[in-house]
Amino acid sequence: MIRQPMVFWATGALVVFCASFFGKSAERKIRMWSFGKTTDGEPTYRYLLANDKGMEVEIINYGADIVSLKVPDRNGKIADVVLGYDDLDGYQADKSYLGASVGRYGNRIAAGRFTLDGATFHLPRNEGPNCLHGGVRGFNKRLWTAADASRADAQVLEFGYTSVDGEEGFPGTLVAKVTFTLPSDKNELRIDYTATTDKATVVNLTNHSYFNLTGVPAEEILDHRLVLHAAKFTPVDATLIPTGEERSVADGPFDFRKPTAIGARIDQDDPQLRFARGYDHNWILEEAGNDLHAAAEVYDPASGRALEVETTEPGIQFYSGNFLDGTVRGKAGQCYGHRAAFCLETQHFPDSPNHANFPPTELKPGQTYTSTTIFRFSTRK
Ligand code: GLA
Repeated sequence: MIRQPMVFWATGALVVFCASFFGKSAERKIRMWSFGKTTDGEPTYRYLLANDKGMEVEIINYGADIVSLKVPDRNGKIADVVLGYDDLDGYQADKSYLGASVGRYGNRIAAGRFTLDGATFHLPRNEGPNCLHGGVRGFNKRLWTAADASRADAQVLEFGYTSVDGEEGFPGTLVAKVTFTLPSDKNELRIDYTATTDKATVVNLTNHSYFNLTGVPAEEILDHRLVLHAAKFTPVDATLIPTGEERSVADGPFDFRKPTAIGARIDQDDPQLRFARGYDHNWILEEAGNDLHAAAEVYDPASGRALEVETTEPGIQFYSGNFLDGTVRGKAGQCYGHRAAFCLETQHFPDSPNHANFPPTELKPGQTYTSTTIFRFSTRK
């Protein structure tokens, strides 16, 4: 059933848990509403994190998806800067990963196959010959448990999901956690991931939000100015699997070390741009280490909104919305066209399980996978 926004809000208002969600005090608690039932009859919920600086983030426990993210422009006008859908039907049918928490392995694994400790594992080939974003039913198509872990200085929403041994072909029962934190005094969303396993496995968790800082998805993102703190990227073959090379970005369309319009070179006659129909590549972050480091900056001259991305990850997939083609009908009936948004997916490199020279993605029993990314918003005059 497609629910109209008006009806949705009326229904939602009836089930809003005004003061009781997990027993938090009124000023800190995260508000929640029903988001309808899945096709399996499971109830889902929408959670609202809000701060004193005009930022609001809505997240659902289906896919641990970010469904809206509102921030002010240079004149204080608030707008939603992420793509999404009005209702659960949209997220259940989604093939574009709008706002999704992606796992168990974000990005591609070549031929849906990898070897670990001498055993070969076969994954669904859900994109041409390869496995993309964890398979046919990845973490974005799962229900997560939710807990309000808010503190005096931040609203904190913790999601949990246990992926059983063999799910989508991956070995080991993986206990994953994704925590979203919105500080009360800063317009930034922090995402912390952890995971543990009972058998050796591979893990690469990320968020797949599509941003358009104009707040108007009918506008292309080609005029947004992008910085990527990366001197190298990982070129790909025609199926977007890294060749294994780590190539300098110098003097080419992949050089975003200085602010450059996304559209400035996107249509150049370059084999890498042709393979992906634009940008859809992994950049190797310069200051990679276990600490948070600067990964990207985006500035929209029209609205004045700016986004900075920091991460503990060694790579970032910059995707310029090349596969959006106007057939995806999103919020308020808007159709999302070619390059209506961009993604900045912090991650280990694609297909790492098949590349010994890439930073490893194995997780063994007794180890804890951790990953943190911050999306920080500001404005410029
Ligand atoms: C990632 C991939 C893209 C595309 C999108 C989802 O960004 O790298 O190629 O699959 O997800 O459409």
